[in-house]
Amino acid sequence: MKKWKQKAIVQKIISYLPLSHKINYFFQKYVTKGVYLSDAYFFDRLGHASDHINSYQKYAGNTIPKTTLEIGTGWYPIVPISFFLIGADKIYSVDISFLTSKERLKNTLEKFVESDQKQQLKKYVSYVPERFQILNDILAHYNQLSLEDILHRLHITYLIEDARKLSLSDNSIDLVNSNNTFEHIYPSILIPILIEFKRVVNKKEGVMSHFIDMSDHFAHFDKSINIYNFLQFSDRQWEYIDNTIQPQNRNRMCDYKNIFSDLNIPITESSYREGNLNELKTISLADKYLDYPLEEIAISHCHLISVMKNVPDEIISHN
Ligand SMILES: C[S@@+](CC[C@H](N)C(=O)[O-])C[C@H]1O[C@@H](n2cnc3c(N)ncnc32)[C@H](O)[C@@H]1O
Repeated sequence: MKKWKQKAIVQKIISYLPLSHKINYFFQKYVTKGVYLSDAYFFDRLGHASDHINSYQKYAGNTIPKTTLEIGTGWYPIVPISFFLIGADKIYSVDISFLTSKERLKNTLEKFVESDQKQQLKKYVSYVPERFQILNDILAHYNQLSLEDILHRLHITYLIEDARKLSLSDNSIDLVNSNNTFEHIYPSILIPILIEFKRVVNKKEGVMSHFIDMSDHFAHFDKSINIYNFLQFSDRQWEYIDNTIQPQNRNRMCDYKNIFSDLNIPITESSYREGNLNELKTISLADKYLDYPLEEIAISHCHLISVMKNVPDEIISHN
């Protein structure tokens, strides 16, 4: 049996167990070896942080976002720490589960220090020297500090709640962002989340910046399949294969654009990776994808930037 199928079966079983996220972490750590904070992952997310900051500065007059919100930060808070380093005051991270830990936070901080020593960090993040010194101080006294103290010093607040109902006030966030998260949220949940983002984002100079990875994530792990493998399955078949630990909605970039348009959220700028048409053509596509242009389906990653200045509250629904 192919490796991706074995992983799908194990994740499906784990998804029915209590504490499924914790069990999945240990499964990935000891079996698939997928949780180690690699340089590739660190610099990829650092690149995202840099792009979010540049997007904000491009459209909000070259200032630093005072307040930021990321959904689904994951195990290593690379993007929130980047925002701390450039001088943000209040950095929120929302998730239904608390996924970091004191040990993982330490790994992340050490990566920042290491990349600075190798003169790499400054290529991504123009940090405030006093803020970087706080990072060094935290690491120097790490064992004496509690996780709460450390997060407090980093101006990071974890909101453990459903992003469909945020405990944040209207217009309170300058920069709303996500990194490889939307592809894991089905539209029935993503739509109310985006409505909530629209409420909390600052409508004077707020910006939303979202990176979406539309490739089949099983292909990251099993090199015998390509990134379009999951597009061969009907929705019904996919329901059996997919799991609630790491769901994949299989939406294409045009689907996200339609959702944004229905919600009256502008896409001010977008960029994408074209993908590989030859690889796509090896897949016998499920009926639901036959109406899409092949070039559209092939797009594997995208970055959507929304300038939220004066965006009205109304929603246009075509349903
Ligand atoms: C796969 S992870 C994101 C990966 C991470 N951003 C990275 O860069 O590796 C998706 C996260 O979104 C969170 N999530 C899904 N639905 C949510 C909701 N309604 N409210 C808050 N968080 C949610 C999940 O709990 C999960 O931790």
